[in-house]
Amino acid sequence: MKFFVDTANLEEVKKAHKWGILDGVTTNPSLIAKEGVPYKQRVLEICDVVGPGKAVSAECVEADFDKMLAEAQDIASWHENIYVKVPMTPAGMEVITRLAPKGVRFNCTLIFSLPQALIACKAGASFISFFVGRVDDMGSAEAMQNIVDAVNMVKTYDFPQKPEILVASIRGPLQIVESIRAGAQIATVPYKTLEMLFHHPLTDIGIQRFTEDYEKALAALNSKNGASGNGASGNGASPKDAGQSIEEKAKVG
Ligand code: E4P
Repeated sequence: MKFFVDTANLEEVKKAHKWGILDGVTTNPSLIAKEGVPYKQRVLEICDVVGPGKAVSAECVEADFDKMLAEAQDIASWHENIYVKVPMTPAGMEVITRLAPKGVRFNCTLIFSLPQALIACKAGASFISFFVGRVDDMGSAEAMQNIVDAVNMVKTYDFPQKPEILVASIRGPLQIVESIRAGAQIATVPYKTLEMLFHHPLTDIGIQRFTEDYEKALAALNSKNGASGNGASGNGASPKDAGQSIEEKAKVG
């Protein structure tokens, strides 16, 4: 499953990019508005940070077909990484139908039902952005079942553009687990949630235990070497002495 980070904050994009696990970035007008910078400028900054081959979604705000068409053409011309985001509306589908054959790649957003996903696939969208968090917020349990069904749908029907099901509006790690189980191709994840995915209490306990064991073993070696009068590593060597294993230290003694 590909990971996109769902943010327009450049520092968050930079941090997530450094981990080497990032496949793309999704922005939306609300996320851009929080940043207080011009839309195009921020999208181009994000493209520069993530580099070639990474998908960067930038959304149309026009609702009317003619205006959205012009806007989509403009946004697509900004950078080769761009996927133009259009909403699940008749005008949005018409824009995709018109421009996808000319090579513009689309992320169809604000999808909440299977028929909407089918329509977006048939129009030619590359990414089908299913919002799960906003459905969960309503106390409805159907969001993840929709993802399972949509993944099956793109497997069943051979859409020429090979659309990918993108799980959006993610609120926490459990939705990532469910997205993986559903076989979703992409999850777009807020930076804070992405960070949470690294953690497991047993990982923390394991690191602590390894460090303590290592320090104990090293202290024992140091005291043994000190007692034998050699002193080679009995002078306060740190367990973090670069490139020298416990075995190597033992040989010195
Ligand atoms: C997707 O591309 C959207 O930007 C995003 O996932 C929306 O999430 P929200 O429901 O947290 O606003």
